[in-house]
Amino acid sequence: MNPKKLAAEKAVEFIEDGMVVGLGTGSTAYWAIQKIAQRIQEGLRIRAVASSRDSEELAIKLGIPIVPFSEIEFIDITIDGADEVDTHLNLIKGGGGALVREKILAINSKRFFVIIDESKRVEHLGQFSLPVEIVPFAVNLTINKLKELGCDTRIRMRNDKEYITDNGNIIVDCNFEKIVEPIELNKQINLIPGVVDNGLFTRMVSSLIVGYNDGNVMIID
Ligand code: A5P
Repeated sequence: MNPKKLAAEKAVEFIEDGMVVGLGTGSTAYWAIQKIAQRIQEGLRIRAVASSRDSEELAIKLGIPIVPFSEIEFIDITIDGADEVDTHLNLIKGGGGALVREKILAINSKRFFVIIDESKRVEHLGQFSLPVEIVPFAVNLTINKLKELGCDTRIRMRNDKEYITDNGNIIVDCNFEKIVEPIELNKQINLIPGVVDNGLFTRMVSSLIVGYNDGNVMIID
């Protein structure tokens, strides 16, 4: 059994009638969206908001009712993946480029469920390059400021062009190798003018759900 699917389907069990549900982005969140659609066909009544155009399109295709953000005051549960999770449940997210919208959903959710396969658990964050979304103005100057924090940087590309986010910005992938103080680093990065946000999600997770290759699922609160 696919461990991402296992974790995703376990998280969807926590959704109840009447909830506003935040839909994550990526190959693990994909399975959650599929399962939510199945539960809706079986009678579940929810409203959903999405963290990316891709997830919104998928949800609409599967018949999940997506509502405008103007119609909601809060989100009951957001279910999303992660690229790395450390022992304190700090995350690196944004491998799929949706980190800004994902963080808005996570911070405005009563419960934030992170779903991963076992390969995503690490002692220290940083092996996975940290995505930082920056505005396209004076990119090289903003990148210089990021480098001063001790990382190598690479502008994310897609099909030989700069990758453009759903918000019309650029992603810089920052390789720190080892992030020992993610809370502090998150603040430092976000103080740089030109940075919109970064993929460090600290102190946000309500529950981590891990799918294992042997078919087990573990929930860590
Ligand atoms: C999307 O921007 C990301 O934050 C994803 O949630 C993260 O990259 C995990 O993706 P997978 O579930 O595809 O590994």
